[in-house]
Amino acid sequence: MTDTEKMTIDNRSRAALFSSPEFRRQYDSADLNAAPSQEDGVSRQAWFIKKARELVLEREQAAGRRLTACTVTFGCQMNERDSEKLRGILDLVGFEESADENADFVIYNTCTVRENANLRVYGHLGQLLSYKKKNPQMMIALCGCMMQEPKVVEKICSDYGFVNLVFGTHNIHRFAEYLVSVLLDPEEQHIEIFEKEENITEDLPTERTYRFKSGVNIMFGCNNFCTYCIVPYVRGRERSREPKDILREVEELAADGVVEVMLLGQNVNSYGRGLEDPMTFAALLREIEKADGIERIRFMTSHPKDLSDELIETMAQSKKICHHLHLPLQSGSSALLKKMNRHYTRESYLALVDRLRAAIPDLSITTDIIVGFPGETEADIQDTIDIVRQVRYDSAFTFIYSKRTGTPAASWENQVPEDVIKDRFDRVLKEVQTVGRERSSRFVGQTEEILVESVNRQDPSLVTGRDEHNLVVHFPGTPDLIGKIVSVYLDEAKGFYYFGHKV
Ligand code: 5AD
Ligand code: SF4
Repeated sequence: MTDTEKMTIDNRSRAALFSSPEFRRQYDSADLNAAPSQEDGVSRQAWFIKKARELVLEREQAAGRRLTACTVTFGCQMNERDSEKLRGILDLVGFEESADENADFVIYNTCTVRENANLRVYGHLGQLLSYKKKNPQMMIALCGCMMQEPKVVEKICSDYGFVNLVFGTHNIHRFAEYLVSVLLDPEEQHIEIFEKEENITEDLPTERTYRFKSGVNIMFGCNNFCTYCIVPYVRGRERSREPKDILREVEELAADGVVEVMLLGQNVNSYGRGLEDPMTFAALLREIEKADGIERIRFMTSHPKDLSDELIETMAQSKKICHHLHLPLQSGSSALLKKMNRHYTRESYLALVDRLRAAIPDLSITTDIIVGFPGETEADIQDTIDIVRQVRYDSAFTFIYSKRTGTPAASWENQVPEDVIKDRFDRVLKEVQTVGRERSSRFVGQTEEILVESVNRQDPSLVTGRDEHNLVVHFPGTPDLIGKIVSVYLDEAKGFYYFGHKV
């Protein structure tokens, strides 16, 4: 590649684009006159990224304008992180980011944890068809958890022929390769789904949403098979990344200006079990803590059954691990927890919370609750409401049980009627909100360290950030504070956020 070409890449790619030295090396040495490497890895993908870039430039010249791309993410933080990888590639191959879905390339990174998420995707697709009728060159892609369900893919094939590309969670690293196929043959529907992951390709470029904070995958998949949950079927078996790869990524992020990392996994507390040299999650945290430049460490999600005393001690002693824990409860009834295959009881969960609070008195605890699981009784819901009162969650996501085909609970006969669920849901939500409101005023009159994230949308004289407990704080400030950690006195609590001033 010539220097002018390199310049073009740098000028066109956005500043936040993060690519590792290894990727740059592979990209620079990729020779489009030779075939791509047959081995599935960064070298092969770098070749396809370069190729896609060439094809996008050709299309751009023909159109007389830049091509636009829009990435829409459904679901969890793992998907958010995956979307940063998709955006990194789209940016590098030359697409300009579009704020809306009326774009030349649209990709939906889907979620299937609850049926609602699926329905939303089908709804959006209808809208996309109307855009495509006006812009026949438009390319539409679908990826993520929903695509790991064979029924969904069948439906896309039969009813949504205008979708150009479909791939799953285990082959997202091949995105550039698929992009080339679509650019070369836009009439064909390109579909590739792997049943399980074959390798984890590191080092592909990502475009971070925030320049100062980033998610870092530490593991993929889940082995727990909670009886309501589809994740183990669509994300596959649990596998941990090598600690050295995680540490290298964290160090590279720190060198690129990141001060806060969020370690991501379906069950971070079982990190490291399958590694050749097993390592506990607490030990990994202690290693990450050593990375210069990283000031805050968060993680999610913690399964209560695997949360060790070693982790509690590590959190209590750490200067960087945030005092916030997302600890999904699902239900406060031991009988229901057993049916959910959660491997803890009401009593052991409460005992765990006691140990956590004794070691870290200011800890914020948030949770997930499911209402309407098959067989749920009024007594079960009373147990859940009671635990919300006892634990005093800072906030909680409350979900209505959603039947996921293929999971054990979906075929059980004792499904709870909708009107009963609705009434129980309202009561749980009310309790969650009451407790949350009380909890959220507890820091008034204290000074907290706030990582500033953005200029306030309603009032540009304010900036908005979060403290280590994940509380949102607004205070007078200027955009140059974004990405910095500043001391802020909290004057007033307003529901679930604070107003303060810099000290
Ligand atoms: N129905 C409702 N909520 C669910 N969750 C997972 N599966 C289902 C389901 N079938 C919730 C759990 C989990 C969160 C990510 O989503 O509470 O912790
Ligand atoms: Fe689903 Fe349970 Fe795994 Fe969480 S731990 S992803 S709820 S199976």
